[in-house]
Order: sequence, then C-alpha cells, then structure tokens
Amino acid sequence: MKDLIIYFSRSGENYFGGELKNIEKGNTEVIAEYIQEITGADLFKVEPIVDYPEDYMKCIDVAKKEQQDDARPEIKEALGDIASYDTIYIGFPNWWGTLPMPMFTQLEQLDFTDKTVKAFVTHEGSGFGFAQKDLKKLCAGAEIKKGLSIPGANVYDSKDTVETWINE
Ligand SMILES: Cc1cc2nc3c(=O)[nH]c(=O)nc-3n(C[C@H](O)[C@H](O)[C@H](O)COP(=O)(O)O)c2cc1C
Repeated sequence: MKDLIIYFSRSGENYFGGELKNIEKGNTEVIAEYIQEITGADLFKVEPIVDYPEDYMKCIDVAKKEQQDDARPEIKEALGDIASYDTIYIGFPNWWGTLPMPMFTQLEQLDFTDKTVKAFVTHEGSGFGFAQKDLKKLCAGAEIKKGLSIPGANVYDSKDTVETWINE
C-alpha cells in the first residue's frame, strides 16, 4: 500500500538565523520531496485560495490573525478520502506555535481512524510547539508516531536524518 504525504509550505521571504531571504521553494516542501523520493509516497500540497503575502512581516500578521480567529481558510483543492493509505506523513512549518490554519481546513475533513501518522515540522527554533497536541485532535483515531523536527536553515542537509526517521 502506498503512503501519502500531506503538507503545507510557503515560498517567498523568510527568516534564516535572523536574516531575511527570498526562497523559491519552502523548507517543508524540501523535506516532503525527500520523503517522496525515499518512500515513493503520493504527495499532496495544501494550498489556500488566497496566497499568503510574500512579505514576511505581512505574512506573520495575517497568520497571527487567522490563528486568533480560529479561521479555516479556504483551500484550492481538498483531499476527501484517505481510505487507500495506511501511513500518512503530515508536514508543515511551525506558525505561531502550531500548524498553519489551512492544514486545519484540510485535516478536519479526513477520517484518520486506524491510520499511522508521522508528522514533520520545519521551524526557526520552536520545534513542534503545541502542534503535537493539535495533531492529536486533528487525527483522532490514528496512531501518531514520533515526529521529526528540522530547523528551516538545515533542510538541505537533512536527507539522511529524514531517511533514518522514516525507517524508525
Ligand atoms: C507566519 C509565520 C509564523 C512563524 N512562526 C514561527 C514560530 O512560532 N516558531 C518558529 O520556530 N518558527 C516560526 N516561523 C518560521 C517557520 O516555521 C520556518 O521558517 C519554516 O521552516 C518555514 O517553512 P516553509 O518554508 O515550508 O513555509 C514562522 C514563519 C511564518 C511565515
């Protein structure tokens, strides 16, 4: 049975060790693609209908407000059914301590009963924050395995770490 990767990732301006840089591919996407290469899993990217600002400072304001409002931003395409998968990798950047709100929009539509979930996060210092607690609710009924936390600046050096984690 194939595995599935569901992830969110944002390109554009981002912080790397205190410095603003423009990146064409988001950090979480780099890890999602490693997992895809290693496992042959299907890849599904959660994309909001309204893009987040490329400008980092504007983006963090929009994201903060969404979290305060407990918003469920509309997404371009939603997965409706994961019945044909056993293991689901869930990847996201830490945004204000947890998953970006479009991941809530997507994950709440899925039935995780008896699935195995392996979550991965990229971040600038906070690791999973309180995302593990939110994932327990979002993936009710799943067995949630040990997660993988990678600083955004290290993603391109992390393929071996990712492989080890996959095989744990
Ligand atoms: C809106 C927003 C909020 C963020 N909040 C946090 C945070 O609370 N803690 C943290 O360690 N990093 C935070 N970051 C940094 C990202 O988690 C980090 O840069 C991540 O690797 C970005 O992944 P991406 O390129 O796949 O979107 C935030 C970034 C953004 C844009």
